Amino acid sequence: MPAEPQDAETTKPQRVVLGVAGGIAAYKAAELCRALIQRGFAVQVVMTAAAEEFIRPLTFAALTGRKVITGLFSSSSSEDTLSSAVEHIGVAQENDLLVVAPATADLLARFAHGLADDFLSTMYLAFTGPVVLAPAMNTNMWLHAATQANLEVLRARRHRIVEPEDGFLACGMVGPGRLADPEVIADAVAAELNRRRDLEGEVVLITAGPTQEPLDPVRFLSNRSSGKMGYALAAAAAERGARVILVSGPVQLPAPRNVKVVPVRTANEMRTEVFENLDSATIVIKAAAVADFHLANVPHQKIKKTAARLSLELDPTPDILAELGRNKRDFLLIGFAAETENLEGEAKRKLETKNCDMIVGNLVGGDDVGFESDQNEVALALRTGEFLKLPRASKRELADEILDHALNLRQGLSSKAHGR
Ligand code: CTP
Repeated sequence: MPAEPQDAETTKPQRVVLGVAGGIAAYKAAELCRALIQRGFAVQVVMTAAAEEFIRPLTFAALTGRKVITGLFSSSSSEDTLSSAVEHIGVAQENDLLVVAPATADLLARFAHGLADDFLSTMYLAFTGPVVLAPAMNTNMWLHAATQANLEVLRARRHRIVEPEDGFLACGMVGPGRLADPEVIADAVAAELNRRRDLEGEVVLITAGPTQEPLDPVRFLSNRSSGKMGYALAAAAAERGARVILVSGPVQLPAPRNVKVVPVRTANEMRTEVFENLDSATIVIKAAAVADFHLANVPHQKIKKTAARLSLELDPTPDILAELGRNKRDFLLIGFAAETENLEGEAKRKLETKNCDMIVGNLVGGDDVGFESDQNEVALALRTGEFLKLPRASKRELADEILDHALNLRQGLSSKAHGR
């Protein structure tokens, strides 16, 4: 009997939504459903209208012992219709992973472009957990530039694509496009959920976003940080099982799932909240772009345009990272360095002066990566003396890589500490 994958905080089995789209391979989704149940997952099946042309919901209902969801407004009574109108939100919140098999060319396009015209696509938009997509289609459709461009978009969102296999297709062609073996897809689902539990027991304190330093009641000094890197780190750490506290400057981003967000505005507020929440932290990541200077005495009234020139005398803000470095206990300390030149030199200098275990350095000021972008190109200066340039990737992918290196570093450091 396979061991049941368990949710970290409860003893409930992990929950998976199996989305079935309308392709010849839809019948193989029944095998996948069985493989997932055999691995101990609780499975909720959602079918598109086209999928129902290929396989009956009854098959999945019999396999899972649950009602299959087939439409946004599939209930008959008006009361049921009302509850089913928001059911996609509930399903999105209750489940740990979404797998779609077969994922047709149409479904990939609709997910990539954020259409929300049926239950599956609407639920996808409301879902913040990991997504596994197993495409199946005719070879030419698979190789088409439009499908490949959609896949790029979905990969950049960190969705795992279980590539189709080469073989004889129902259309008579031979080539890539056949749905991957259901056991391979079920393994990908299990790996996606397990891989992310390697931070269980860790408490990760992350800062993100810019700070705003008021100049008067209506104006402030700030910077171009979007907070995306810090939020990606928080989402990744939470998915991998950590308890995550995110001290966040003002940003336009939704709170990541299972993350405690502590909103702050100024560098001083950020410092207070970081030290308030430091006690149980095992990893501290300072991704925030903290303002270096602020106006110490903010006037209570708006500054008027009376003089021809305005000079402001600014005082330094507390360097939170340096203070953490000075008071370092047994937590792993990771800082960031946003530079416009000499990345390696500056990252290594900050690693030493701020007593960090890792500095994530990135060159800012270019157009397509950095602050507001979803992509980033970073290099890691490590306590071990290494300087590693990571290939350009989505912030979500980089978040996982940074966390991987943090864990390696911790294992290296603790094995040294224990003389191993
Ligand atoms: N940092 C901080 N508190 C500050 C300024 C920076 O905690 N008042 C942290 C940032 O969160 C980041 C790291 O220090 O993790 C480096 O920030 P950066 O702005 O690159 O460096 P500075 O130390 O401010 O130096 P400079 O601006 O001169 O490069």
